[in-house]
Amino acid sequence: MAFLDKHAILERSPTLLLTASLLVVTVGGIVEIAPLFWLENTIEEVEGVRPYAPLELAGRDIYIREGCYVCHSQMIRPMRDEVERYGHYSLAAESMYDHPFQWGSKRTGPDLARVGGRYSDAWHVDHLMDPQSVVPESIMPKYAFLADVTLDGAHIADLLATHRFVGVPYTDAQIASAQADFRVQADPDGDWDGLLERYPGAVVSNFDDQAALTEMDALIAYLQVMGTMVDFSTFTPDASR
Ligand code: HEC
Repeated sequence: MAFLDKHAILERSPTLLLTASLLVVTVGGIVEIAPLFWLENTIEEVEGVRPYAPLELAGRDIYIREGCYVCHSQMIRPMRDEVERYGHYSLAAESMYDHPFQWGSKRTGPDLARVGGRYSDAWHVDHLMDPQSVVPESIMPKYAFLADVTLDGAHIADLLATHRFVGVPYTDAQIASAQADFRVQADPDGDWDGLLERYPGAVVSNFDDQAALTEMDALIAYLQVMGTMVDFSTFTPDASR
């Protein structure tokens, strides 16, 4: 009892009370916040999630450059209306290799977190060229110019290396073959065995159906991989986390 009575000392000295409160809050804060600095503890790893293939990564850069995120979010919240409309709610692991992440909260258009595989490549070409041609009431702008800008992937290895610098586990082999992988993903007649070994499940397709490799190819490669890496028919959340 005598020890507990000592709280009177604290309560009568504002300076002491403030110092003691600060100490308590600091300890509490460190305990809660510090583990987040070590991402491995925070994000439950999920089978299937892999770094983006070079062409997908280039497409992601175009997505960011064109400001698609201004109208589209990439995060399905765990609520019934969202899950019924868009599919399984987004997992933290699904954006663990996104720098910067594209979650967003502005939805002028629908959420795109699981748009991969929902439409054909040809649908995406038509839609990006002229959204109103496939969805008459659409207010999405036209992005037809993407089909006219050719890509040579000259700096693609640097792009992968930069992502490795911020924590994406690209291997030396992946960086060394970045140029080749970049080209072959849009060339179904090419030798893409190595690409699929390095990036399991990557979609190989001449996305825009033109001979040249264009920004349209890259953007559609990215759209088609979105939300497809995890196999939700076998996925079970780890309840111990
Ligand atoms: C001004 C807002 C706006 C911008 C910017 C925008 N979109 Fe959209 N987007 C929409 C709207 C509205 C829809 C719904 C109507 C439609 O399908 O066109 C849509 C639909 C889509 C769909 C179909 C989604 C589905 O599930 O049916 C895709 C894919 C898409 N947008 C991709 C993009 C990409 C890629 C970009 C950037 C190059 C982009 N959008 C930029 C407004 C926008």
